[in-house]
Amino acid sequence: MLRINSISINGINGIEKLGLSFNDGFNLICGNNGIGKTTILDCIASSFNRNSGEVRKNVKFKGEAHWTIEGDMDDNSFISHTSRVEKSFKEKFNLEEQLDTNGRIRYHNAIRTKDIVNFSIARTTNRRSKVAPSFSSHIQYWMYKNDDSILSSVKRAENSRIAKECFSRLNPVTQFSKVVLRYEGGEDDKLSPPERIRKRNSADIYVNTPTGEIPFDFLSSGYRACLTILLGIISQTEVTSGYKSVQLFDGVILIDELDLHLHPAWQAKLIEILRWLIPNAQIIATTHSPHIIQVAKQEEVIALAYQKPEVNEISQKSVGEYGLQGWTIEEILQDIMGMEDVHSQKFKEILDDFSKALTNLETQKAEDYYKIIDSMLHPENHLRKLLKLQMAPLEKIKK
Ligand SMILES: Nc1ncnc2c1ncn2[C@@H]1O[C@H](COP(=O)(O)OP(=O)(O)OP(=O)(O)O)[C@@H](O)[C@H]1O
Ligand SMILES: [Mg+2]
Repeated sequence: MLRINSISINGINGIEKLGLSFNDGFNLICGNNGIGKTTILDCIASSFNRNSGEVRKNVKFKGEAHWTIEGDMDDNSFISHTSRVEKSFKEKFNLEEQLDTNGRIRYHNAIRTKDIVNFSIARTTNRRSKVAPSFSSHIQYWMYKNDDSILSSVKRAENSRIAKECFSRLNPVTQFSKVVLRYEGGEDDKLSPPERIRKRNSADIYVNTPTGEIPFDFLSSGYRACLTILLGIISQTEVTSGYKSVQLFDGVILIDELDLHLHPAWQAKLIEILRWLIPNAQIIATTHSPHIIQVAKQEEVIALAYQKPEVNEISQKSVGEYGLQGWTIEEILQDIMGMEDVHSQKFKEILDDFSKALTNLETQKAEDYYKIIDSMLHPENHLRKLLKLQMAPLEKIKK
């Protein structure tokens, strides 16, 4: 068991000062680009198992750059599964003290635990990432091993069943069909040993869809991106948890940019499936998606905002009893994501011209601009009615 209760950060990357507390389940960190979301995940990841993320001293920061993390864990969750003695931890990581003689960062006080999994943004791009290049190699082969009656064991059966269920949970008309080894034997004698190993360790998943049985790689990128996260979580947690069901995993999962490459409809679905897949985990994720935070509960949203822009002090915005469930996507984009305007520049200019025409009582001009706005707006947009009301006095003048 691992829980992170809070973190405070001083002088790391773009952050000069920040303090956050986390809840036990979902934590969805959102806010402007560059505010420091990834930095928060990097500091958390760097606190464990000498797993150092991209943490640097803030170039403007005068004092001692450091972060402090607090939480609870099993006393010996790294070594044994027998006695579970809970303890709290509070660990301070001072950046200057961590440099070794080669200038590399070494966290001598990193907390040892098996209960944390980090899905960085690299999951889809970086070849070194454990879950990455990846679906075609690592995860498909992992599915094969778990499915094969010789390689697999009873212990693995439960997670294998859950992994297969993920396919249809994402889309009820899509079902896992089979997974077959790519290597059929024979002609690989000519291959070099590394090539042979790679070939032998490759498998292909096939999926039943309304249009027939197709290889996994032919599915939509959104579907594959979701499965990369879901099956990635199962495969990353199973060895360290002694092949217990992933649904019992009670550690921490870090996910940077949860919504990466996903259509809004998939984003909400992914959250729903994660709640089913890892109901006992603490998830700390960053997101740019107003759709995700709109459906989240109040305590799950961590909306970051600059408190004092001149010193980059960042605080947590409060979001009210019902979270952002009554806010429109537009309001979330403007107020939480820091988008100054959700309309295009062209639209703003015409709206501006329209307002000027109204102020100058230029009826014909106002009508002309209104016609343009009318044809630009979404068919159901309420702004049309408002603008029409604003034009009413001018029409009276005309009469
Ligand atoms: N050493 C440093 N000193 C000062 N600022 C830095 C330093 N390193 C990075 N930054 C700044 O930190 C910010 C990046 O922070 P981070 O990646 O955590 O943001 P983010 O919220 O994840 O952004 P995004 O939404 O784009 O993913 C950038 O604005 C960058 O200019
Ligand atoms: Mg980021």
